[in-house]
Parts: sequence; C-alpha cells; structure tokens
Amino acid sequence: MDIIIIKGGKPLKGSVAVSGAKNAALPLLFSSLLAEGEHRFDNVPLLKDIESTELLLNHLNCETQRIGTQMKVTVNQPESLVAPYDIVRKMRASILCLGPLLARYGKAKVSLPGGCAIGSRPINLHIEPLRQLGAQIEIEHGYVIAKAKKLVGDRIVFDFATVGGTENIMMAATLCKGTTILENVAKEPEISDLARCLRSMGAQIEGEGTSVITIEGVDELKPTDHRVIPDRIEAGTLLLAGAITGGDVKVIDCVPSDVDALINKMTACGFEIDTGVDWMRVKPCDRWRAVDVNTAPYPGFPTDLQAQFMALMTQADGTSVITERIFENRFMHVQELVRMGAKITPKSQVAVVRGEKAGLSGAQVMATDLRASASLILAGLATADETVVSRIYHLDRGYEKLEVKLQSLGAQIERCSV
Ligand code: EPU
Repeated sequence: MDIIIIKGGKPLKGSVAVSGAKNAALPLLFSSLLAEGEHRFDNVPLLKDIESTELLLNHLNCETQRIGTQMKVTVNQPESLVAPYDIVRKMRASILCLGPLLARYGKAKVSLPGGCAIGSRPINLHIEPLRQLGAQIEIEHGYVIAKAKKLVGDRIVFDFATVGGTENIMMAATLCKGTTILENVAKEPEISDLARCLRSMGAQIEGEGTSVITIEGVDELKPTDHRVIPDRIEAGTLLLAGAITGGDVKVIDCVPSDVDALINKMTACGFEIDTGVDWMRVKPCDRWRAVDVNTAPYPGFPTDLQAQFMALMTQADGTSVITERIFENRFMHVQELVRMGAKITPKSQVAVVRGEKAGLSGAQVMATDLRASASLILAGLATADETVVSRIYHLDRGYEKLEVKLQSLGAQIERCSV
C-alpha cells in the first residue's frame, strides 16, 4: 500500500498544468455506448476511476486503447448487458451506463453501487425519470433491472439538480422517441461537456448550462472525437496548494471561470489572484482572513473543494463557518485535520474552523475519501514537520500524479510503498 510523506513549510513556486476532468471523462466514456464504432477521447486523465470505467466497458464488449492522454473506445454489440457488482462497487459512477444501455439496447442490469464514505448517495433521481420515459425498472438481488421497448420523451422535473441523474437521463433521452424536457437540471461544466459530445455524435440537445435542457430524440448516433475539459477541481486544489504555503503558483491549462466561486472566496480572504483565458495565478500572501463557505450546486462553491478549502481556513485569521449542503457525511477529514492540531468543531453538516497560523503540526493521518486526501496533503504542505498520509488509493481515484505536480512546484513530497 502506498503512503505519501510531506515535509512542508516552504512556499510553492512555479507553473503547473491541469489534467482532463475526471467527472467529465466518466460520463463521456459511458456515452460511447450509445453508438457502435470507434470513438476517440483526448485529454483523458490517468486515474483509477478511468481504469474502472475501462474495465466495465471491456465487460460490455468494448475495446479500449490508451495512447498517452488519448483513449480509443471501440463499441461492439455487447454479449451481456450486465454491469456486475464487482466492477460497480469500485466506482459509483458506473451507474451512468444504465441510461445509454437502456436507450440503445432496450434493457440493462446494473448493480446497485452500495455504501459510500461521504453520504448515502441514492439513485432514485436516475431511476424515477427513466420510469417516466417508459422504462420498467425493478430492484432485485442488489441489481437495477431495467427494460423498455422504446423510451418515449416526456417533461421531467428533477427534485434536486443532480449531476449524475442529469447525465444519465440526458444520454437516455438522445435516443428517445420525441422530445424530452429536463427541468431543474445540474449546470456543472461537466454537463455542458457531455452535451457538446452528444451533439457531435448527432444528438439534438439544447439548454445545457441552464436549468432546462431540451432533447429531441434521434434514431441513431454516430461515434465521435472529443476532447475532455480541464479538471476544475484539480485546478482549484493546485491553486489552494499555492495559497496555503504563501506561494506563487500559476495553474495553466484550466478554465478559471469554472472556479469563479473559489476565486471569489479566496479574494475575500485577501489573496490576489490573476487570471487569463486558460490560467490563474495566486500571488504570495502571508496572512489571510477567514471566510464562511456554503457548498452548493454549480455555479455555487463546489463540495469537491470543501475539504481543501477547510485546510486553508485552519491557517486563517479568524473563524470560518463551513456548511456542507450537498452530502450528509462529507466531514471525515475534520478528525484527521484535528489530529494535526486544527481547531475545528463539526456539528452535523456545519464545521466551525478557528484559524491559527502555524497551528498545524505534522502527524500520521489517514485519507478517508478522494477530496479528504487532498485536504490532508494541503495541510501537510503548510507545516514544516513531517506528515504521513496513508490510504492514498483514494487520491489515485481522482488526481493524476498530484505528488509529482507538487514536486515540480518545489514541494518536498514523496510516495512510498509500505
Ligand atoms: N442524490 C439523490 N438521489 C439521486 C442522486 C443524487 O438523493 O438519485 C443526492 C445525493 O445523495 C447527494 C446530492 O443528490 O446528496 C448530489 O448528488 P449528485 O447526483 O449531484 O452527485 P453525483 O452525480 O453522485 C457528482 C460527482 C461528485 C460530486 C457531485 C456533486 C461524478 C462522477 N461525481 O456526483 O464528485 O461531488 O457530483 O457535485 O461526477 C468527487 O469527484 O470527489 C465527487 C464525489
């Protein structure tokens, strides 16, 4: 098992490039199931979750071939339309094969994903809309068993602007008979990227990036070439790494407007942040103010940057109130940050962080989920003592070589196998 050892306390300096977005690449790869033939995706990050997706696509008789950051997916007629538990339990986003399989082949059997560290994460907002489009769906023996002669478009109003639910139904609706109108949908940049990709496959979609998406069903789609957008969460994490060390870091190959909510909060803290079309730079800053944060669907402050921002707030002047509104259990990093000396009081979905410059000390800590791992690494970079982060497999699910990128900025950080 790998661990990460950090000896921080040194300002980071330099320029670092962002990889393709995990949360865009996953639905994009599953969207290939909608059209037989050869699809090409560029800027696909090298991550465990992408490997799990490849495994599932291979199981569904797709061939996958990676050359650098390019991935070729050749979709063939599947022999089985089953997404088995052994693959799905490794990655919840596997549920995104349900919409495409059902729309393309009229049936699918997908394992329920099971438990998750950050919340219960039900899939009712995937299932109910598919039923509204005419699918018959049963849950039996831990599997979602779905069938439909032909899905038929309808008006669907989501109870909550779910990212995965929006993606699944968008994909299914591309091959529906007639028009589907999706209301109160997610507006995340990853949704817009999926819409662009589906359009290049021949789908008729409009409205992505707003709360209503309209899809006119077509008879068939064709394979495509598509470039995955930059990872806004990795970009934000690298910007915060620069900030927490008082460093001067330019994050390149990113879309700064995708992290406006973060930039606004960091500016309110007192950081100076310059931006260009595809870069952003945090300037050196010794002291910063605490600010409050509420996570919210895009364009609000992303839940996927909450843990990393909390690390920054442990070093701020004053008290910050951080409210997690998306997931009910996304404060697992709090106890680990407390082990490093942070003064944080969590109460249900609210954490009160009393900032104290130099209040952290190195410790042995354990990553509990993907973004928690990044938070602990940022905290480690803020203290001159040695910090050892274990359970790094969580990090590898969603960050491509984070330690190598941080090394390139001058960080003393290394990965060891134990
Ligand atoms: N929800 C339901 N029912 C559903 C679906 C969602 O109640 O059927 C609830 C969830 O329990 C949660 C909220 O709605 O409380 C938001 O869930 P959403 O469906 O929007 O999230 P997701 O699609 O499961 C994606 C990202 C997450 C990110 C969230 C929110 C992917 C593969 N995952 O998850 O990314 O936190 O949107 O932005 O796109 C991460 O990268 O670390 C990560 C967890």
